[in-house]
Amino acid sequence: MDLDSFIEMKNVSVLRGDRKILDSVSLNISRRENAALIGPNGSGKSTFIKLITASIYPSYTGEDTVCRLFGNSRWNISELRSKLGIVTNELQYDFHNEITGYEAVLSGFFSSIGLFTNHKVTQAMKRKACETIEMLEVSHLKDKKLETMSSGEARRFLIARALANDPEVLILDEPSNSLDIASSIKFHNTLRKIASQKAKIILVTHLVSDIIPEIDRFVFFKEGKIFADGGRQDVFTSAKLSELFGVDVKLTQTDGICALNIKKN
Ligand SMILES: Nc1ncnc2c1ncn2[C@@H]1O[C@H](COP(=O)(O)OP(=O)(O)OP(=O)(O)O)[C@@H](O)[C@H]1O
Ligand SMILES: [Mg+2]
Repeated sequence: MDLDSFIEMKNVSVLRGDRKILDSVSLNISRRENAALIGPNGSGKSTFIKLITASIYPSYTGEDTVCRLFGNSRWNISELRSKLGIVTNELQYDFHNEITGYEAVLSGFFSSIGLFTNHKVTQAMKRKACETIEMLEVSHLKDKKLETMSSGEARRFLIARALANDPEVLILDEPSNSLDIASSIKFHNTLRKIASQKAKIILVTHLVSDIIPEIDRFVFFKEGKIFADGGRQDVFTSAKLSELFGVDVKLTQTDGICALNIKKN
């Protein structure tokens, strides 16, 4: 078993109706890499994220298929999720009950959507939850119900929830959605801090400004397939991005901040 392996996939497909929304994906990502997943709307990125958080499973296609996470193909879901910090749009919709921001962050310690009577919340958990809420600068909102917050405020609690449990891998599907400009910059810096410490990052984004310099692996998705896969120099280029999206774009990188401009013809 490769102790360094996070994702090991061979010929993984996901079928919905008669359509392959992921089509024979083969990909290995180690626990030493920070990866960005990029691609047009509907190209399969969130489906891939659902596979690596064990929210869905590969479809049977008759092919010789491998789908392992941390070297295992079978997982106790709460054990797997305790290693992950997850931020997705779907997760934000799941918190629709009367839970406060603080309780939502505490629920991250149990990988649950909300707190239940069997959850033993320790003083250390409370301290850590308050620290991450403070880091995201939303302490003043901690006792407000999530469903009464603006989407950006709720998003910050979701990010705090993902960070509180010191995950091995942070899985972020469009994490900076709804964040205002100042919060996006703070989030960028927080991500950099996390990436320089223990946790690794798997990031899906449409915003190149989210792509921190610590990201060293780029996987491009198109129509359910891997379109390109490799390092920054080879894959994260104006030419490859233009090819991926079918528009002429120019990528610039200044002081670790990326920007994308549409080229005029
Ligand atoms: N449960 C489902 N049933 C049917 N089709 C689905 C289902 N889930 C996803 N799809 C389809 O699969 C394709 C890939 O969806 P996915 O959410 O993975 O795309 P994405 O790359 O994350 O796109 P976006 O950038 O818009 O978030 C889309 O065409 C979507 O409509
Ligand atoms: Mg998506």
